[in-house]
Amino acid sequence: MMDMTTKSFAGESAPTFTGNRALQIEEPLVFEIGSAVTCGVDLEEPEAVESRLGDMERTEAIGLAGLSEPEAVRHYVRLSQKNYSIDSGIFPLGSCTMKHNPRLNEKMARLPGFGDIHPLQPQRTVEGAVRAMAELSDWLMTLTGMPAVALSPKAGAHGELCGMIAIRAALEARGEAATRRVVLVPDSAHGTNPATAALLGFQVRPVAAGKDGTVHIGAVREALGDDVAAMMLTNPNTCGLFEPEIAEIAAALHDAGAYLYCDGANFNAIAGKVRPGDLGVDAMHINLHKTFSTPHGGGGPGAGPVVFSKALAPFAPLPLLKLEGDAWTLVEDSPAASDGAGEGAPRPFGRLVAFHGQMGMFTRALTYMLSFGADGIRQASEDAVLNANYIRAKLRDVMSQPFGDRACMHEVLFDDSFLKGTGLTTLDFAKAMIDEGFHPMTVYFPLVVHGAMLIEPTESESKHSLDQFIAALRGLALAAREGETERFKGAPRFAPRRRLDETRAARQPVLRWRPKEATAS
Ligand SMILES: Cc1ncc(COP(=O)(O)O)c(C=O)c1O
Repeated sequence: MMDMTTKSFAGESAPTFTGNRALQIEEPLVFEIGSAVTCGVDLEEPEAVESRLGDMERTEAIGLAGLSEPEAVRHYVRLSQKNYSIDSGIFPLGSCTMKHNPRLNEKMARLPGFGDIHPLQPQRTVEGAVRAMAELSDWLMTLTGMPAVALSPKAGAHGELCGMIAIRAALEARGEAATRRVVLVPDSAHGTNPATAALLGFQVRPVAAGKDGTVHIGAVREALGDDVAAMMLTNPNTCGLFEPEIAEIAAALHDAGAYLYCDGANFNAIAGKVRPGDLGVDAMHINLHKTFSTPHGGGGPGAGPVVFSKALAPFAPLPLLKLEGDAWTLVEDSPAASDGAGEGAPRPFGRLVAFHGQMGMFTRALTYMLSFGADGIRQASEDAVLNANYIRAKLRDVMSQPFGDRACMHEVLFDDSFLKGTGLTTLDFAKAMIDEGFHPMTVYFPLVVHGAMLIEPTESESKHSLDQFIAALRGLALAAREGETERFKGAPRFAPRRRLDETRAARQPVLRWRPKEATAS
């Protein structure tokens, strides 16, 4: 029976009897609602069978909660209503490109010829799907100006791994893998870049970005030597700025016998405007789940195809796409040594994944490309940049920019100097945004900027939505300046939970539910 003593809702005054606040229901865990001794459905007693598990057999009940269908539906719907999503509002996480996923993409991905196929089906029964993969490859190579692509990597970081393995294979083919052990990584890079290099056994040599937030050729030349295998450079970079010296950097690397890996996670700012191949890039991953709008986040499937320059193309992993007559086929075996004799002949480094990649993501991305068209893709990039600069221009008098008042690409970076003297931090500011009904921007990244706040609105936000967002941030910035400390320190006040102790949650995670009696003892 419900305890009818008044409960405070999220520690606020005006408590309710239930702990609920209108439609914000204080939802217990599923184990606390259901009981292990009841079952929501009528199941026949299973036939007794002889156990083959020996002493591995479970001796106690598993303790799963039994819920009726309406109880189960309500539980999960209530939980889902606590989620913030791109379908409920602007999701301004910098570096994440949380843009609208057109529903047409979903419809196409569910067509039986794409959605219901199996990777072990004979190829002649999936010719249409393989053709769609070839068409997607063609778009990616055309947009980047690069001659080869591997579709199979399943995320941006996985693409980095793929590109860097190809670089290692190219160095092995040149007999230089043992001597070129260093990868240059700017200090503003996404953490996955040094992690990828280290995972492959390379030594990471940091390159400091200049005072303007970009990498300069002088710093690269200083770090270059005949021990360098490659540089991993993000463009546009994590500060939302285009790297203006990238072509010179590529030339310097090539002169020194090294390769340029470009982290193309931010390709959404330049797709249709700049071809990385023209800048001298040797390998680059593209996060389909960002640039080409397929859904991402929450551990969902992603796709990080990698495009390769002429120098690296032979080392691209299996499967390879090949046109035979008028049908596309997937080549799944390495060519025989005799076939690979000539320079430029395929010598794949192997496979990266068991099958061929994420068909659902391929279909969604190709649908996006075909429905936008080349001009639409260019406009999407322009609008993403325009929206970020609109926010920048409307907030520059109340918030602070770390690299001066200059145009940005698809994301605008603020720092915490506008909070100086207020006693407030970037975290306080971000938490107060939750009370205003907005998901916070990315905070404390990139690490090179103190108290960073990175906002990426994407092209899919309307002016109306941007104006609402800007009004909230202006209001908060002014409130901070006027000393309304409580508004921030206590935030979020209206969310189902107040500020959590994130450090403790990370250091002492409670990963298993136990009945109350067990926890008390
Ligand atoms: C600049 C940059 N590089 C790499 C990645 C890694 O991509 P993924 O999360 O798909 O592995 C991200 C992710 O957002 C990114 O922003």
